[in-house]
Amino acid sequence: MHRRQFLGTLAAVSVFPHDGFGQTSTSRLVAGVHRQQVLPAGYPGTEMWSFDAAFPGTALRARQGDRLAVTVENQLPQATSVHWHGLRLENRMDGVPGLTQAPIAKGASFDYNFALPDAGTYWYHSHAKSMEQIERGLYGPLIINEIDPPDVDQDITLMIDDIRLEQDGSFAAFDNFHDLSHAGRIGNLWLANGQIDPAYPLKRGERVRVRLINAANARVFTLGLQGFDGWVVALDGMPLNEPQTLPEELVLAPAQRIDLIVDVTTDDEEAFLITFERDGGYAIAHFPVSGPSKAARSEKVILPPNPDFPIDLANARTATLLIDGGAMGGMRAARVDGQELGARELAGRGLFWALNGVAGRPETPLLDLSLGESARIGMANNTAFPHGMHLHGMHFSEVLADGSLGPLRDTILLNPQETRKIAFQAHNPGDWLFHCHMLAHHQAGMGSWIRVSA
Ligand code: C2O
Ligand code: CU
Repeated sequence: MHRRQFLGTLAAVSVFPHDGFGQTSTSRLVAGVHRQQVLPAGYPGTEMWSFDAAFPGTALRARQGDRLAVTVENQLPQATSVHWHGLRLENRMDGVPGLTQAPIAKGASFDYNFALPDAGTYWYHSHAKSMEQIERGLYGPLIINEIDPPDVDQDITLMIDDIRLEQDGSFAAFDNFHDLSHAGRIGNLWLANGQIDPAYPLKRGERVRVRLINAANARVFTLGLQGFDGWVVALDGMPLNEPQTLPEELVLAPAQRIDLIVDVTTDDEEAFLITFERDGGYAIAHFPVSGPSKAARSEKVILPPNPDFPIDLANARTATLLIDGGAMGGMRAARVDGQELGARELAGRGLFWALNGVAGRPETPLLDLSLGESARIGMANNTAFPHGMHLHGMHFSEVLADGSLGPLRDTILLNPQETRKIAFQAHNPGDWLFHCHMLAHHQAGMGSWIRVSA
């Protein structure tokens, strides 16, 4: 059967097949403590919290249409949970303590098991005390292969991060009020796959799939891929209908992903992944290039679409999300558990941000939707800082200025004072978190949720 017909059938018949139509890939992830040399040689090593004693954790790979079964064993000094970022999975497998499951206590384990309706680039990470647990290393790549994957010579995943270490290799203290009330925890070290400027050798003319994942606590990366020609083929796991020519700058907010299919076209000895900072560009990974020069392949790649859940904008339920707070923002008060608190009392509880005047997860959802209904949320960032808003369980499209729908995403960046609209079809039942992925902001109040009732 042709691939497109096959996917069409999958979407029409069963979106989340209950007993998978394919195989189940089984894994075990042990969350624990290990030491790794993160700072340059000569400096002390770092005590990380990680999955399978590796930072980043083991890359989980499975095939679209299959199921993934992962037993997470907690050997950390505190409770944890695992969220499968971007997967449109069953709600009780979403990994949010207090909303979809109880935290996995120290010494306990939890069996995750879910269907994989979508191909693409995702990641898994702790969703408990995430500002600290993700920073300490509790994350890894989650790659769902297409049933018929594109023809490439190499497939390279780069998890980009910035962490804040002291000279002695230890993590700088957590929970400082400056991080909570400003941009979040910005690091002092750029890492790709847990290393400073790692090397990935390539040959001229090779076609490479590059999967960029921003695993940082709060840093919005502006990246440049130099020495290649090609296309952006997917955002946040979801294939673009129309691949976009590789731009000079790729903006990647925390938790976002970009898939690229590029050809090695440079005649130089090296190609680079650059992070553009205020004072210039720095290599965050490099690619030693060898072999005779070759013309780029010209055929562009369009990835097969994932199941589609069309949005009915005309009949969409609407909600507004006002984002307030932070330093220089002038938030005077907010409600916490139904009680109005002043800025000073909020700060005393480590709360600095509010969504629609509520700090912390509200008792009632932002939207209570029926399965299949469409929704539109207008968001206004009334603060002096950028925020990357992430919806669990369903992807959304931005409603663009001309009323058309942008590409599907699960995380959208709102720069200071920006307003944006998103829309989605409530196709996945359950209680879904909707929060800022600047992890300090989430901890300090920026989290709401949406209910989809079957
Ligand atoms: Cu990447 Cu609520 O998570
Ligand atoms: Cu934020």
